[in-house]
Amino acid sequence: MLTRRGFNALTAGALATLSAPGIVRAQDKITVKFSHVVAPDTPKGKGALRFKELAEQYTDGAVTVEVYPNSQLYKDKEELEALQLGAVQMLAPSLAKFGPLGVQQFELFDLPMLMNSREDLRKITDGPVGKQLLGMLEPKGIIGLAYWDNGFKIMSANSPLHVPDDFLGLKMRIQSSKILEAQMEALGAVPQVMAFSEVYQALQTGVVDGTENPPSNMYTQRMNEVQKHATLSRHGYLGYAVIVNADFWKGLPEDTRASLDKAMAEATVYANSIAEEENANALQAMMDAGTTTFYELPPDERAEWEAVLRPVHEQMADRIGPELIQQVYDTLGTPS
Ligand code: LMR
Repeated sequence: MLTRRGFNALTAGALATLSAPGIVRAQDKITVKFSHVVAPDTPKGKGALRFKELAEQYTDGAVTVEVYPNSQLYKDKEELEALQLGAVQMLAPSLAKFGPLGVQQFELFDLPMLMNSREDLRKITDGPVGKQLLGMLEPKGIIGLAYWDNGFKIMSANSPLHVPDDFLGLKMRIQSSKILEAQMEALGAVPQVMAFSEVYQALQTGVVDGTENPPSNMYTQRMNEVQKHATLSRHGYLGYAVIVNADFWKGLPEDTRASLDKAMAEATVYANSIAEEENANALQAMMDAGTTTFYELPPDERAEWEAVLRPVHEQMADRIGPELIQQVYDTLGTPS
């Protein structure tokens, strides 16, 4: 639901866009509003700032990129509506948040225990599956430009999470993905979809008991202050698709678009090169802070997680498409 603040901002933004000429002329000053929900000091936050720097440099200042972090402009669902209306031009939503757009195939990245490494991830994002998924955005008035990494997720709560039984009855915050809903249910937890900006307070007040995220998100939102336990389960992946409003992008002068493409390609290499280290640093900082006990899953307990989580693939195959899942398995060499 749009809040009044969000609606007013959205309406004003949309009107400004509508009153602008359909085609952007070379001499027009171009502004790209890039909205996102995480802190500036995260892989996505830093990637957005690098894109701004390069885009402004490569267009000799003809393009200004305004980056709005931390859900300052819009929360998760609102930002997608704002992009479609043209109130903002660029976003990088988590791959788990494309369901409400009707492109739920992106949820394949949420399948638990699917990928073992960033090499696995690259095989999907840089191969035919990654391209196919971005292509599905075009009928929605959106162009997918790139995949940006965050990292593998850890589970947190105020009680230890060693084996699936430890999840029984826990209210776990998730992103708006049906696969993540099925994942939490398979563990015996009660999933609760919630915007990212609301998670800290929900954990603090006990509205939810726990959540999952890569360390960089957990640390920069200070979730470690309100979660006594975390398990380094790396049971699933969280990353992003950088997307733009198609009318805006196609209406850009060709040389400007080429400069922005170049800036995006370089910002992508940068964002993906820092993600692993950002997460390792965030984990270390949380360990040093000492408010959360971190637990590494031994192989026998990991096998228990796998036994309950792997069936989620088959259970949710129709949502993603069995053929697409098979294509992913073939790409990764996963036995089906
Ligand atoms: C979340 O909602 O947990 C993440 O999608 C936030 C983000 O954008 O990394």
